[in-house]
Amino acid sequence: MEQLTYTPVRITTIKSNRKVSFPVYIFFKDQYLEYVSPGNSIEKEKYNKLRKQKITKFFIKESDEDNYQQFLESFIEETLNSETASVEEKTEVVTGMSETAIERLADDPASEASFDMTRKASKNLQKLVFENPESLANIFGQDSDSGPIIGHSLNVCVLSIKLAKSKKVSDEEIDYISTAALMHDIGLMERNKEEAKLFELPKDDLDPAQRAKYNEHCKGVIELLSEKPYINKPIIDLIESHEENLQGSGPLKMKKLTLPQEILSLVNTYDKTCFTKKIDPKTALNELMIDQLGNYNLKLLNDFKALLKEEKII
Ligand SMILES: [Fe+2]
Ligand SMILES: [Fe+2]
Repeated sequence: MEQLTYTPVRITTIKSNRKVSFPVYIFFKDQYLEYVSPGNSIEKEKYNKLRKQKITKFFIKESDEDNYQQFLESFIEETLNSETASVEEKTEVVTGMSETAIERLADDPASEASFDMTRKASKNLQKLVFENPESLANIFGQDSDSGPIIGHSLNVCVLSIKLAKSKKVSDEEIDYISTAALMHDIGLMERNKEEAKLFELPKDDLDPAQRAKYNEHCKGVIELLSEKPYINKPIIDLIESHEENLQGSGPLKMKKLTLPQEILSLVNTYDKTCFTKKIDPKTALNELMIDQLGNYNLKLLNDFKALLKEEKII
């Protein structure tokens, strides 16, 4: 009998009332059951029920991957260009694609298809955030049902590209920042649960042994990515330096950062402060302005503060 392999996809990327050209499965009682057959769509009522039941994933056959990507591409393009779709709807489909892409990359960081999906997701996030300013608040500060690291990666992505835009960073570099931001912590996700737990603790609370373990997430994954010709060097450099600062106390002890590197690191520190200390965005910013002085340029810290005010985050 043919051995089928299934790939998870977030249900927000399939949507109701939209015909699929491939079978969609749910995983129930240890088996994959065909839930939607090709040429059909999911009724809205059924779809809402699944979401209420907190079902977050469908499955597709691995051999249908190209069909799924085509489906998703046209669905997202239509939604993002639609005059009737709400910002919430636009946000949901783009974050669903981003979450699916990050999850897949964490499973296999070297996969070209997953990298490609991440790159496309980051393009869509840029379009979403730049064309719909309200979407920032829809993403930032929302719990992601795909877990804290993915939620954090999305926050870092949207805030970094906004800050980069305000600092007049080139479109090409914004593109690199957005992809790197989605990928930057996959090194933590692919490690065992205990190490991923360190992500949830404030950095200053880590003892030297824990800190050394935590720092490994910047290095291990880089070796793997560096061998892949399809991953651009600027993206790898950004991921590698995302925990560095101007005083050289990061894992690689770098003291010089390019503006894109400094932006990614600053936003990463800020979002981690909000998350690990469970404090509101304004309190986190006040702490950042004091604790990180010297780690980042004062001008950049002030510009970041102005951006958060403008976006009504603080
Ligand atoms: Fe990190
Ligand atoms: Fe991070």
